[in-house]
Amino acid sequence: MSKKYPFLLEPGRMGPWRLPNRIIMAPMGSLNADKDGYVTERAIEFYADKAKGGMGLIVVECTYMDNILSKGEDNCLGLYEHGQITGMARLASRIRDYGVKAVLQLCHIGHQLALSDRYESLGPSDMVEMMGGVQPFPIRGMTREEIQQLKEDFAMAAWRAKMAGFDGIQLHGAIGHLINMFCTPFYNQRTDEYGGSPENRIRLMVEIIEAVQEKCGRGFPIIARICGCDFDEDGITLEEGILHAQILQKTGIVALHIVGGSTRNIRVINIQYDPRGDFVFISEAMKKAGIKVPIIIDGGLSTPDIAEQVLAEGKADFIGLGRPMLADPEWARKVAEDRPEDIVPCIRCCMGCVGTMEGFDAAVGLRCSVNPRCNLTGYREVAPLVKRKSVCIIGGGPGGMEAAKMAAKRGHEVTLYEKRKLGGMMHEAAFDLDVKGDIQILIEYYLAQMEKLDIKIVHEEATAEAVIAGGYDAVIVATGATPIGSKVPGTDKSKVHTFVEYTGDRTIELGETVLVVGGCFPNVEVAYALAKKGKKVILSSRRGGENGMLELASDNSSPMQQRLLLLTMQHGVEIQLEMDLTEITDDGAVLTDVGTKEKTEIKCDNVLLCRGYRGRPAIYTELTGKVPELYEVGDCQISSRCNQPRNIGDAIHEGWLVANRI
Ligand SMILES: Cc1cc2nc3c(=O)[nH]c(=O)nc-3n(C[C@H](O)[C@H](O)[C@H](O)COP(=O)(O)OP(=O)(O)OC[C@H]3O[C@@H](n4cnc5c(N)ncnc54)[C@H](O)[C@@H]3O)c2cc1C
Ligand SMILES: Cc1cc2nc3c(=O)[nH]c(=O)nc-3n(C[C@H](O)[C@H](O)[C@H](O)COP(=O)(O)O)c2cc1C
Ligand code: SF4
Repeated sequence: MSKKYPFLLEPGRMGPWRLPNRIIMAPMGSLNADKDGYVTERAIEFYADKAKGGMGLIVVECTYMDNILSKGEDNCLGLYEHGQITGMARLASRIRDYGVKAVLQLCHIGHQLALSDRYESLGPSDMVEMMGGVQPFPIRGMTREEIQQLKEDFAMAAWRAKMAGFDGIQLHGAIGHLINMFCTPFYNQRTDEYGGSPENRIRLMVEIIEAVQEKCGRGFPIIARICGCDFDEDGITLEEGILHAQILQKTGIVALHIVGGSTRNIRVINIQYDPRGDFVFISEAMKKAGIKVPIIIDGGLSTPDIAEQVLAEGKADFIGLGRPMLADPEWARKVAEDRPEDIVPCIRCCMGCVGTMEGFDAAVGLRCSVNPRCNLTGYREVAPLVKRKSVCIIGGGPGGMEAAKMAAKRGHEVTLYEKRKLGGMMHEAAFDLDVKGDIQILIEYYLAQMEKLDIKIVHEEATAEAVIAGGYDAVIVATGATPIGSKVPGTDKSKVHTFVEYTGDRTIELGETVLVVGGCFPNVEVAYALAKKGKKVILSSRRGGENGMLELASDNSSPMQQRLLLLTMQHGVEIQLEMDLTEITDDGAVLTDVGTKEKTEIKCDNVLLCRGYRGRPAIYTELTGKVPELYEVGDCQISSRCNQPRNIGDAIHEGWLVANRI
């Protein structure tokens, strides 16, 4: 039993269940179904892999309940016909076999269907929504007959879930899905009993609960997921969220699963720029208002210390973990064993999870930047060793350290060279702990692993001669990339720094006005971080064109990109698109329009610039043909400039893959 985390590990009651701890896996669409929504082997293994980790309950992802308009995308799970019960039964039993309660989330996608551009989109009222503020999407208001049908469809899907052996269902009434649209004044402009007052707007959810209870019996547990406060004008206020919770708890639900934000203000998924647990105030307010049903809260509660604190302070009853379960399905077990330092931290980047869903490739499926094994059905945890080898790794960034960790776990004899400090370019990435503190947590995770595993660390620059003399069986080059110099006149002035200099050397003082040059996401992040500190920031980039601002930071996941652009604007960063930096002068810089060639002089105290990075280290060439096995992982594979944007996730995945095959 954990001494450090008594609250997380305390058994808890939820309806008829006595859960072994307070850790719940939050629902996450993994797109592992076939195109008709049937369960696949991969879907089953995805959840079995999680259930092994020892949480109390898993809420299986959003599952559509009719085959008409409730489906979000191909490869979402569906439960709209009896034929789907068999697959669902296998899925539920695999979760339950590990002593974990299996709850299926049922949902109607509502207006988010418009994102797939396939059918008409349903909602409470007729309206045209401007998606992303630019693209018009029509929403058709539901008739009373359709509402009646919807309730029956939810009830039938719940009954199928019960037949499949699920312990209960969760109704998705948040994050822009149909039930949530009914709750939200902005979407719900009805004048009948489903619109108008807060009581009327929650009526649909109440009636769906009643329909499910009638079909499945009142004893069949239902969890309601609702938005407790969405921060929008014409949205759900905290007071209204509390009122909805009060109404719902009278229906006999076993728990509330609370989330905040909305698809309109892109604040649903807690990301690196957000304080962790930014929706905890909602569950706290609900508890203070006397809500008695257990409350599950999630949103960036990925470190056990923070999750423990929420429970210890009585701000929620259960902690929902979504992405942390992708990053490390053994989160709960490691907490129970008092090994928080071994938890692979979710860095709230959304590059792997949401990112892979957006550019979805059914063959690859959902991924995670920090966990290469995520969603690799049946892939062994540690590849068996065929022959113990001496492995030399050059470079202690994420690529090199992941390779070292994996190779050592497999039983190889590992030597890791690092000439600067372990962590590599992650130190630059973690330049501002308010904005990028997650990366620092990842550095600390790897440092702990390097210390715990049997790895020989050599704190010096590796040379080809030394490596060859070492007589290693295999060498992995993970030396990263270096910034390319700029030929712009004036670059040698003292007020000019590269991003790597500025983010690496935390002592550089900048003046009042800073010109940040370049539209890659790290540059935009620096611009935001400086503006947040009160600097006047001008961000110039060659990017622009048809997509305008959306070209900026487009090398990041969309939740991060959208929020970053919003934050830069909110903090008054002046943006100059389609501009080339052509000269740095004593009191400023000259920007030249890439189209018209018109020049603009701006005044600034400092210039931060980046002309891209180059990998291809000489040492790789020098070692080619001189060592029995030679590999290259991470940023050192960049051949020129920024046209191959790479990141921590790429380096980790490659390090892991290579270390697995040696
Ligand atoms: C400012 C900035 C912000 C960033 N932000 C993010 C972010 O938010 N998210 C993200 O995913 N990515 C981000 N990146 C990119 C990310 O940091 C890199 O993609 C990642 O660190 C690459 O990992 P790597 O292991 O390949 O190389 P690196 O992290 O560059 O590590 C290489 C290591 O090798 C060492 N080395 C080199 N040659 C030798 C030698 N001969 N002997 C011994 N040691 C040697 C170096 O000292 C270094 O420590 C950012 C990059 C920068 C510059
Ligand atoms: C890839 C992905 C898919 C998600 N799918 C769902 C879903 O199907 N239903 C739902 O209610 N929430 C969904 N969410 C939101 C999560 O349940 C959770 O609220 C969110 O990720 C914040 O918690 P975390 O910081 O622990 O990840 C999803 C989140 C992610 C990242
Ligand atoms: S891809 Fe990033 S945000 Fe998503 S689970 Fe992995 S580390 Fe977390």
